Amino acid sequence: MEAIQHLQWRYATKKYNGSQIDQDNLNTILESIRLTPTSLGMQPFKVLVIDNPELREKMLPIAHNQPQIKDASHLILFAANTQISEESINSYMNNVASTRQMPVENLAGFKGMIAGFVGSKNEAQIAEWASRQCYIALGIAMATAAALKVDTTPMEGYKADEMDVLFNLKEQGFTSAVLLAVGHRDEENDQLAKLAKVRKTSESLFEFYS
Ligand SMILES: Cc1cc2nc3c(=O)[nH]c(=O)nc-3n(C[C@H](O)[C@H](O)[C@H](O)COP(=O)(O)O)c2cc1C
Repeated sequence: MEAIQHLQWRYATKKYNGSQIDQDNLNTILESIRLTPTSLGMQPFKVLVIDNPELREKMLPIAHNQPQIKDASHLILFAANTQISEESINSYMNNVASTRQMPVENLAGFKGMIAGFVGSKNEAQIAEWASRQCYIALGIAMATAAALKVDTTPMEGYKADEMDVLFNLKEQGFTSAVLLAVGHRDEENDQLAKLAKVRKTSESLFEFYS
């Protein structure tokens, strides 16, 4: 039940109070992102953690002047890979081999499978697949934050092309997938804080096949 209470407590915060979140809590949220499961274990994204005021100023119009950009403690931008290089596959194989103390040659089949999967996709398809992995991390980060009583806002409301330019993402083989604001709610001034959650009923959402 505690898990559900955390999810009832969280809401997409519109108005933050401008305070910084505890560094340990930030680290825990980032660690939950690092531990997120991903397709093939590839973690095809990088994560930009932003609290620089000048960058926020530049992000503000890109994100349609949404107030979270200025008032949240930090902004976490998930940037999806648009390309998977042979080098990054090799690096992943070396990581598996050293972490699990096994010869990298034993991973030849796995490596071939990844190369085949990646090779069958164009840049747009890689970006789409990688973005989906970003959203898994987004969800896990929000659930982790809620358990720590840290507020969050998942944000798609920004011009992705302009965000990519601001952070030079295209040149690095990435594209912005989704943004997460983290911080503490300004309960008095955020109308959304008091509103009941609107969700489908369980009956209309779930189908059971026993
Ligand atoms: C992928 C995604 C993108 C969203 N983008 C925005 C956004 O740009 N700005 C915003 O204020 N809320 C945004 N939301 C918040 C949703 O409107 C909100 O989660 C939904 O209405 C459910 O309300 P709750 O999160 O408060 O329970 C987004 C939510 C998700 C999951």
